[in-house]
Amino acid sequence: MTESNRSEKKGTFSVRRLNRILAMLLSEMKGLNDEGRDFPIRWNIMHMYSSSQLAKLLAIHRGMDPELAGIAAALHDIGVVMTKKHEGHAEAATPYVYNFIERYNQESGMKLSKMTQEEVEAIVKAIVQHSEKEITSDDPFVELLRDVDSIDAYLHGVEIGGGRLERCKRVMKEIGINGPYGQ
Ligand SMILES: [Fe+2]
Repeated sequence: MTESNRSEKKGTFSVRRLNRILAMLLSEMKGLNDEGRDFPIRWNIMHMYSSSQLAKLLAIHRGMDPELAGIAAALHDIGVVMTKKHEGHAEAATPYVYNFIERYNQESGMKLSKMTQEEVEAIVKAIVQHSEKEITSDDPFVELLRDVDSIDAYLHGVEIGGGRLERCKRVMKEIGINGPYGQ
């Protein structure tokens, strides 16, 4: 738990930055239409929220910062949202993530704590590498986002195979669930 998300309220942790970021993302995404998109924007909105929740849960389980994990998950498909395309979306995300967080820091950085350079770098690294589900990184934050994306797709009924299915199996075992259900 970092200094920034220690909460004054007993038994809670702060997700104030994450919730502000989700609100900003939703207000920008809900005005977009589906024309020319590989996926409808409602999928991106749904995936943003559910990945973010799963990221917090898995981060807590792994002793990592849940809010930072939730923020990375909320932003992880910004490349799809901005380019409308799935192909290459992870690698394309870098300028959009920097731009978004800079806006967050300018708009909310007085009332809420700013995202630090170190946090932004960790998020960008995980997002840029999140599509590479078949390989394993020695960075636990990168691995967390790949796992979360895989489980979220599975839970939304997306047919998954390869690295995503292997990740689902591993994570379910890790958290004590006998699964994946249906496989
Ligand atoms: Fe993605």
